[in-house]
Amino acid sequence: MNSPVIRPRRLRATPALRRLASETRLHPADLVLPLFVREGTEHPLPIQSMPGVVQHSLDSARRAVTEAAAAGIGGVMLFGVPSHRDATGTGATDPDGILNVATRALVAEIGDALVVQTDLCLDEFTDHGHCGVLDSHGRVDNDATLVRYREMALAQASAGSALLGLSGMMDGQVAAVRETLDSNGFADTAVLAYSAKYASAFYGPFRDAVESTLDGDRRSYQLDPANRREGVREAQLDIAEGADVVMVKPAGGYLDVLADVAAMSEIPVWAYQVSGEYAMIEAAAAHGWIDRRRAVEESVLSIRRAGADAVLSYWAVELATWLNEKD
Ligand code: PBG
Repeated sequence: MNSPVIRPRRLRATPALRRLASETRLHPADLVLPLFVREGTEHPLPIQSMPGVVQHSLDSARRAVTEAAAAGIGGVMLFGVPSHRDATGTGATDPDGILNVATRALVAEIGDALVVQTDLCLDEFTDHGHCGVLDSHGRVDNDATLVRYREMALAQASAGSALLGLSGMMDGQVAAVRETLDSNGFADTAVLAYSAKYASAFYGPFRDAVESTLDGDRRSYQLDPANRREGVREAQLDIAEGADVVMVKPAGGYLDVLADVAAMSEIPVWAYQVSGEYAMIEAAAAHGWIDRRRAVEESVLSIRRAGADAVLSYWAVELATWLNEKD
């Protein structure tokens, strides 16, 4: 009888051994909650394709950020849902536009208890729904968009955002925003580059959440899901342009890209567990087809294991609450 000498099961035998042998841990401080704030609503409005997630009013956003801080999470990422949209997305740079108003309100509410971050992109503010401004042929004009991103960066930094999330996928956007911040007294405002952002079907529910008007797709600026090396290259470019954090998005289907970026990056690497990843688990759990809590924990743990230092997740606060119970 051959009896194995090497027995990996030894370290799996008891909960105490498994806990000690665990290579990856989740901690509330490594989680960021995306928050949608809608202009002109008095009450939070449910988002049909994201059960449990709402479009906040200013008041309910204040309560949400207080709850998030109490749960110990690292930050919130704000998205604005404006009531008016136009060709150049003027609401994005208006100090009275919803995203800038919400940023000021939440920074005033929460101070330094967590990091208030903002999405820097035009798609919620344009009537055509693209992440940039269009040229006379209806194509997204890279360099004209950079001018708007510079203006948006100033508006958001002035409103008190500590970390600007550049999610528009224009070439040169990190360098442009960094230069504008530095030459206008905002050298301490940090830049989170959505470096490897893929043109993904998994953003579907998000488009409901922000009432996107997009007709068509974003394949001329977001990455082709087929491309792995290109994701790494985008992260390298953003690091060279002065990004403080790089990100891979979506997370679950792109763990190979995430691991590659984590292996080469000398700055923090984050990942965004997007709306479709959320909706899939919620839908399966609602049918009783998977164990909701275990699936949520495993999905975020897998993203951390692949190399993300922090994770943006719609479950951030709930997951933090579970983690706090275990201590
Ligand atoms: C662009 C932006 C998007 C998401 C975050 N920032 C939408 C898109 O690129 O179409 C998607 C996030 C999600 O699906 O949860 N402002």
